[in-house]
Amino acid sequence: MNKIEDIVRLGPVIPVLAFDSVEQGEHVSRALHAGGVKVLEITLRTPAGLQAIERASQLAPDIVVGVGTITKPEHCALAKKAGARFGVSPGLTKDMHKAAEDAGLPLLPGVMTPTDILVALELGYEIVKFFPAQQAGGIAMLQAFHGPFPMLKFCPTGGITAETAPTFLALPNVVCVGGSWLTPKAALAAQNWDEVTRLARGASELAAH
Ligand code: 3PG
Repeated sequence: MNKIEDIVRLGPVIPVLAFDSVEQGEHVSRALHAGGVKVLEITLRTPAGLQAIERASQLAPDIVVGVGTITKPEHCALAKKAGARFGVSPGLTKDMHKAAEDAGLPLLPGVMTPTDILVALELGYEIVKFFPAQQAGGIAMLQAFHGPFPMLKFCPTGGITAETAPTFLALPNVVCVGGSWLTPKAALAAQNWDEVTRLARGASELAAH
């Protein structure tokens, strides 16, 4: 599975994860997997990120762990070495594109404007992250993008909730959505892994295209 297209079609929701510790990462990754979520985006927002990717990648044969919040080209090779199978970035630069290619890391780059989209298309992307989705226009913006860019598919992320996810997923140009609602801060603080599994089950049962 070397293409973003194959990865984003493994489930309707990609959880965006930031772990305080490698141990927390392992518990949460297990809990998400138990709830049927197979694709995880573990971000580099915390120092535990890279090691959490390494640990989560080894949890189950059918788990696909990616690296999130790539903000520097050099993150691509580091994350690939740790076991990441794909990368997600909030935006896109040519250097980042090249670094992902050189590292052999399929990239889901972020876009927010028509110019961002033109750059992504020029570089060959057919699936992009729309970030921050809710704040940048939400459903109406995705519907408006469909006119000039019918060839492009989106993974909207940012401000999406369990309640709004189905409406995003019903759009013809949305393949999956991303979000952090499967790992509420209170559940993590209370080490309530069953709650994470419950939220993951709800997310994995949502309909996707
Ligand atoms: C991201 O980086 O993709 C977002 O921070 C996730 O957004 P959310 O926390 O609003 O779901």
